[in-house]
Amino acid sequence: MNKNMQNVKIIGTGSYVPENVLTNNDLEKMVDTNDEWIIARTGIKERRIAKDNETTSDISSKAALRALENAKLNPEQLELIIVATNSPDMIFPATACLVQDKIEAINAATFDLQAGCTGFVYGMITAWQFIVSGFYNNALVIGGETLSKFVDWTDRNTCVLFGDGAGAVVLKANKTEGILSGHLKGDGSGADLIKIPAGASKNPTSHETIKQRLHYVKMKGNGVFKYAVKYMKRSTISALEKCNISATDVDCFIPHQANMRIIEVVAKVLGIKKDKVFINLDKYGNTSAASVAIALDEAVRQGKIQNGDIVVLTAFGAGLTSGSIVIKWVK
Ligand code: UT7
Repeated sequence: MNKNMQNVKIIGTGSYVPENVLTNNDLEKMVDTNDEWIIARTGIKERRIAKDNETTSDISSKAALRALENAKLNPEQLELIIVATNSPDMIFPATACLVQDKIEAINAATFDLQAGCTGFVYGMITAWQFIVSGFYNNALVIGGETLSKFVDWTDRNTCVLFGDGAGAVVLKANKTEGILSGHLKGDGSGADLIKIPAGASKNPTSHETIKQRLHYVKMKGNGVFKYAVKYMKRSTISALEKCNISATDVDCFIPHQANMRIIEVVAKVLGIKKDKVFINLDKYGNTSAASVAIALDEAVRQGKIQNGDIVVLTAFGAGLTSGSIVIKWVK
């Protein structure tokens, strides 16, 4: 490490989920599914759905303001805003610009980051590097999604899984410990497993793409499942090895909240005990890039993370992508 480099810590967290709750029983009236199947196969009981006029930048801004309040930082002091999302307000401009305007962070640089459900972890590692190098002194990283607007509500393979929400962290340069290590990976050979096929340069929107429902999320769930376990395990091990920490020393493990069975298998193969694993999947479903961010904020606010704890965030998603980050929690 260059001696000018500094440590980086999380000085605030925040999250926001839309008010509207969609239960498994509600879904039974929409597609051929049932509460028992959804709970047994996924662990999800309900999810939040944004209003028609509620966008990703709206809910991301609410999460951001809560994180800034928690960090005791004024929006105008912010130097960088990264929004990790797969459901931006528009293809361009970046949702981060819209958030910047809404929260009046007038001095911040802004960009979006798209890395499937791993987006928030990619965003944190990116912001960490900006601060470590001394380029910026602080950064706001948001994972925000309104995937309900991109889900085919006639497709039971996907519509029971996803939900809307946003989570945020404020990172700041710090003299003592904080973020200890990270790992990121991409594997484009799995790009076909989860995608929105139309609405961009490959298949621009047309009557035909709409008729074929290609502007909605398509997923081969089984294939994704296998990769999810393999990559979250490998990524967590890589990040822990880089800072010489054993999986048994992890105090709070926050995995991407996609499926209870995936989480259980990953924790088991890593040797992390159940009581160290944070889960809120039952309440929100898979909120994609927001999932780890919301879970981190809830874990902090519920007192599940104490000063000095080793916290690991790990995620996996479309791309394919995977990533993990190891943090020594310091107040
Ligand atoms: O965020 C990152 C991206 N996403 C993920 O990580 C998702 C990873 N994959 C999964 O979570 C699981 O694969 C799913 C929950 C999507 C599916 O669970 P599965 O155990 O892999 O089920 P399956 O796809 O093998 O389907 C089993 C059966 C099928 O019926 P048949 O062909 O055996 O008669 C499906 O048609 O379950 C049926 N099925 C459903 N039944 C009731 C699929 N979706 C539903 C449903 N309700 N909603």
